[in-house]
Amino acid sequence: MTVDEPSARTVIPAVAPALTRPVARPAALPGGLVLRESRPEDQEQIEALLAERGDATDALDHRLVAEDPDTGRSATAVVVDGDRVVSTATLLDEELRLGTVRLPAGQLELVATDEEYEGRGLVRALTGWAHARSAERGHLVQVMIGIPYFYRQFGYEYAIDIPVSRPLRGTPPDSGTSVLRTATAADLPALTALQDTAQRGFDVAMPHSAACWRWLLAHEASTLRVVERAGAVVAAGRNTPVDDGVFHLAEAAAADEQAALDLLAGVAASAPGAKLRVVHRPGTLPADAWHDLVEHAPRGEAQQYYVRVPDPTALLDRLRPLFWQRLVTAGLNRAGDDLIVSTFRAHHRIPVDEQGLGAVVTGGPMQGPSAEGGAGVAPDQLAPLLLGPHGIEGLSRIRPDVYPGARMRVYRALFPPLTADLLTYYLP
Ligand SMILES: CC(C)(COP(=O)(O)OP(=O)(O)OC[C@H]1O[C@@H](n2cnc3c(N)ncnc32)[C@H](O)[C@@H]1OP(=O)(O)O)[C@@H](O)C(=O)NCCC(=O)NCCS
Repeated sequence: MTVDEPSARTVIPAVAPALTRPVARPAALPGGLVLRESRPEDQEQIEALLAERGDATDALDHRLVAEDPDTGRSATAVVVDGDRVVSTATLLDEELRLGTVRLPAGQLELVATDEEYEGRGLVRALTGWAHARSAERGHLVQVMIGIPYFYRQFGYEYAIDIPVSRPLRGTPPDSGTSVLRTATAADLPALTALQDTAQRGFDVAMPHSAACWRWLLAHEASTLRVVERAGAVVAAGRNTPVDDGVFHLAEAAAADEQAALDLLAGVAASAPGAKLRVVHRPGTLPADAWHDLVEHAPRGEAQQYYVRVPDPTALLDRLRPLFWQRLVTAGLNRAGDDLIVSTFRAHHRIPVDEQGLGAVVTGGPMQGPSAEGGAGVAPDQLAPLLLGPHGIEGLSRIRPDVYPGARMRVYRALFPPLTADLLTYYLP
């Protein structure tokens, strides 16, 4: 079917609501606009729209995604007015690791609406498309970086801290034992191995997908660097171009302290005269090696990744092995003492058996979970609770609708504060 056949259209009422089912077929929006998957003939217009509304480098960023065999054009949707592309969004496939559990995730990216078409619900509709596609792909969470507040309208909540970027006090001397060069495809195994090691210490981690590594080699918004010593890659990082006399080094990883220092010296020397800032990855080798070379100003304004939990039951169910590990580690795994997490409009009961946790059973409203041996967490605080830095104890100090209830020790063990390290295509 084509969009010109009225029977192919799903009529959506005046203010376009979030689409709640997969949109393999085009969908009609008010005003004769049509939302559909992108096609090759849209590419030039998508790039022009992204460059116009965002950064010039977004055009190439998008082309790399659209032309990649792992993602392709179906990862992007557009809203068209006739032949004119007036809004677009892309959904990337990601994987989030939480402890030992791997969670398929989606990331909304490369979002823009033509200025003439703003405020008509086009991104609301595209977000609905993205969430339907995400559900189809089995994603249990969506993670994204976005403009302030906007995405909270679509079920996202701020959950995970974005790491701070710190100015340098000084640069280390050139050791003369290594070279810094731009990474090539042949370096990808070494780059992924270095990042795997760097991320091992974090409770929550999101690596670059294989496709994203390919885009990072080719795109212009940042440059992948490696430090090579005696023929081996011993450190890696990603730096932005100099903008207004400042540039950033992110995603630094190293095999040893000297490699980390050589990375910093090499990147700083690549733009003499410009001020380099380094993105802090607490607990990693570069963070330790650079400790005396960076300013340690306290965290300024909050910067956080957005997270959306589309189906709390499915997510809690996938996390059972992790919850069990936490209970066992704390010595609090008592068979028969069911866990209850109430989101107030609903509650989730997790049976505790001798050998592990039973399937999550979701029921109706439960206003007083403490009396039932449960904890309370408002649904919009579930992502901060499960993935964020505060844990239930920290959140309960700032949120009246999050509390561990009477079985405090159990729920503190179940929901501890977490460290996180997310690698994303777009550098926050
Ligand atoms: C931000 C942007 C994507 C919004 O696109 P849009 O198609 O106008 O968004 P929608 O109309 O679907 O917005 C949904 C709702 O949010 C409101 N809204 C629009 N822009 C908003 C903003 N910046 N902040 C908060 N709410 C906003 C809309 O009025 C609408 O409200 P309603 O549903 O109650 O009617 C668009 O303005 C844009 O392209 N800006 C420049 C590029 C950019 O910032 N991209 C996003 C990068 S993360």
